[in-house]
Amino acid sequence: MSPKQFYLTTAIDYANGDPHFGHALEKIGADVIARAHRQMGEQVHFCIGMDEHGQKVAQTAAAKGVEPQVFVDDIAARFRGMWDLLAISYDQFIRTTDPAHKSGVRAFIKRIADASPDDFYEKEYEGWYCVGCELFKRADEIVDGKCVLHATRELQWTKERNWFFRLSKYQAFLQRLVDERPDFVQPESRRNEIKALLATGLEDLSITRARLAWAIPLPVPSPTGGEPQGTWVWFDALPNYLTATGYPDKSYRNRWPAQLHVVGKDITRLHCVVWPAMLQAAELALPERVWGHGFLNFGGERMSKSAGVKIELADEVARFGPDAFRYFLLREIPFDGDGSYSIERYEAVYNSELANGLGNLASRVIAMIEKYRAGVVPDGARGPLDTDDIADLSTAQQALDGSRGYLPHEALDAIAKVTSRANLFIQQSAPWTLAKDPAKAAELDAVLAALARSLARQAVALAAFMPGKAESLWTQLGAPGAAGATTYEAINRLSAAGWKVSKGEGLFPRAEQTPPVVG
Ligand code: MSP
Repeated sequence: MSPKQFYLTTAIDYANGDPHFGHALEKIGADVIARAHRQMGEQVHFCIGMDEHGQKVAQTAAAKGVEPQVFVDDIAARFRGMWDLLAISYDQFIRTTDPAHKSGVRAFIKRIADASPDDFYEKEYEGWYCVGCELFKRADEIVDGKCVLHATRELQWTKERNWFFRLSKYQAFLQRLVDERPDFVQPESRRNEIKALLATGLEDLSITRARLAWAIPLPVPSPTGGEPQGTWVWFDALPNYLTATGYPDKSYRNRWPAQLHVVGKDITRLHCVVWPAMLQAAELALPERVWGHGFLNFGGERMSKSAGVKIELADEVARFGPDAFRYFLLREIPFDGDGSYSIERYEAVYNSELANGLGNLASRVIAMIEKYRAGVVPDGARGPLDTDDIADLSTAQQALDGSRGYLPHEALDAIAKVTSRANLFIQQSAPWTLAKDPAKAAELDAVLAALARSLARQAVALAAFMPGKAESLWTQLGAPGAAGATTYEAINRLSAAGWKVSKGEGLFPRAEQTPPVVG
């Protein structure tokens, strides 16, 4: 049987500034899901990328006095640099300025026009446009003359003749989709938001901008003549998930539809309302699921420079390294809701769970195997430690396999129990006392073997979260192959007997003091 396919994507980030904590939370969360599914034996394809057209990007480039293409090339390189540093294991990096994407979008829009000719029409339109969101705003989304999400940007009163997409026609279709496929949009809180939005009724969408040069020209001839208009950035960006599969080349069917789109809560509706309507209009299959994660805040504030908090992503990653950062972010911020980042909490969690918890456990166990058994893991019968660990690690797997949603924070909670249990087991079994009595040699063997197995299981389970440190631990244990290449299923059978351990560098050196806050 060929392995199950798992094509997952994240939002493509606007190329108008450097990557920030919010982008990092999404990419790290999705990366853990991708890596976990590889360890579930699935055929994973993980796609991320950049959203490079539109007014926002054009304006930022103009303000810097640079050609938009030069500007986005530089930003894309900076994003990739950050994702490589953070060990994001993407298989594909799509950019909306890629020629293949541009021709794919044109083919897709033509397909809508052919399959549903009635879905595009021209109309005079006026309204407040938020360049931050790249969306027209309804009155209830405007407070004190500003978009609620972008209080520092001026709204633009826009009046022009545009092309429209008949979104209203898909109202009943979308309602059925959300009702009949409860998994289509998750978590439940997001699903309820989409239901509420659908209940208010859908308006048609303006999908072109008259004077937008930094865009894909809409490939639909105007009945009234005139210049082709620039395609609205969302109509260009959403199809990236499809063009990434090679569309319109027939081979796109090998990958499409996607199993999962991971996006933030601010853009869930674009993915659960606009995108499925576009696909339905083109008579193409819908993605299986959209996961709308929450927002990362600082001290309750949405992350922004104006809030006076200035923590640089690169500085925080450098503090204890990319693995610890990945661990902390997902341990601290629930992936199904909002959470707050604090540099003090980071140090506290790093010290208690990584330096004193896992790091200390690994160094003690390896030191004892070296001291009492010349570095070779003894054989020993399985016992309650194995059974209890396996139960927790199965909970961890279920938190990532989609059966209950995508909950990396819950997976880490279950894995942390395994680490604590092993530390407690050392205290209770006191190997240093057993070592003093030659009559207890078999008992000591059993204890050391159980601890080595527990560490091996933790390395495999943590490989998705801390790919670098999990491999260091795996190497120190003398295990064959790679932790990240070991399937979750194999966890239940792991035996470390005969492995030759070697004490390496401490996995997580204790942090002695908080570095000063810059800003
Ligand atoms: N370009 C669009 C997405 C197009 S997808 C076809 C966009 N870009 S963005 O750069 O503004 O955001 C990219 C992703 O980062 C989105 O999923 C967004 O929700 C997420 N985040 C941006 N700020 C965030 C936080 N503070 N916290 C968590 N995620 C947030 O939207």
